[in-house]
Amino acid sequence: MGALLRTLAIVKPDAVRAGRTLDIRQRAELEGFTVLAQQHIQLTRERAEAFYADHVGKLWYPDLVAYMTSSPIVALVLARVDAIRAWRQLCGPTNPVTARRENPHCLRAMFGTDGTRNAVHGSDCASAAARELRFFFPQMVPPPPPDADAASLA
Ligand code: TYD
Repeated sequence: MGALLRTLAIVKPDAVRAGRTLDIRQRAELEGFTVLAQQHIQLTRERAEAFYADHVGKLWYPDLVAYMTSSPIVALVLARVDAIRAWRQLCGPTNPVTARRENPHCLRAMFGTDGTRNAVHGSDCASAAARELRFFFPQMVPPPPPDADAASLA
C-alpha cells in the first residue's frame, strides 16, 4: 500500500459560485479522501500571482489571475493514500472539453466550463503539494516524513 499523503485542492470561483463546493467535497470523501481543513477565501491579485508564479509569461496568465480573483475560492487539505496522484486523477484533464471526452465522471468534466474556468485545482507533485499547503495553511503542522519512525529507532 502507498503512503498516506496530503494534497492541496481548490474549488475555483466558478464552481463555488455555482454552489458545487459540497458536491465536490462529498465526491472527494466518496473516493476515500479525508478533509483535514477547509478555508473559504477571496484571493487578492498579489496572492493569485504568487500562487501561479510558475506560469508568469504565458498568454493565458492574466486571464487566469483575473478569474481566480473574480470571487471567493475554497481551499482544502485532503489526505489519502497516494493523495496527490489520486486527486489529480479525480480532477481530470486541464480542459473540461477534453475531460468530458476522456473521463466524463471526473470533476472538471462535470463542473468545469473551459481551459481556464475548470472548477478545481490539485497540486501536481510532492514538492508543489508541500509549497501549496504552506501557502494556504501555514499554521498546520506538516506530517513527519515517511522514514521518520525508522530514523528515530535507529
Ligand atoms: P496547468 O498547471 O497546466 O494545469 P493543471 O491545473 O491541470 O495542473 O495550468 C494551471 C492552470 O492554468 C489551469 O488549471 C488553468 C490555467 N490554464 C489556462 O487558463 N489556459 C491554458 O491553456 C492552460 C494550459 C492552463
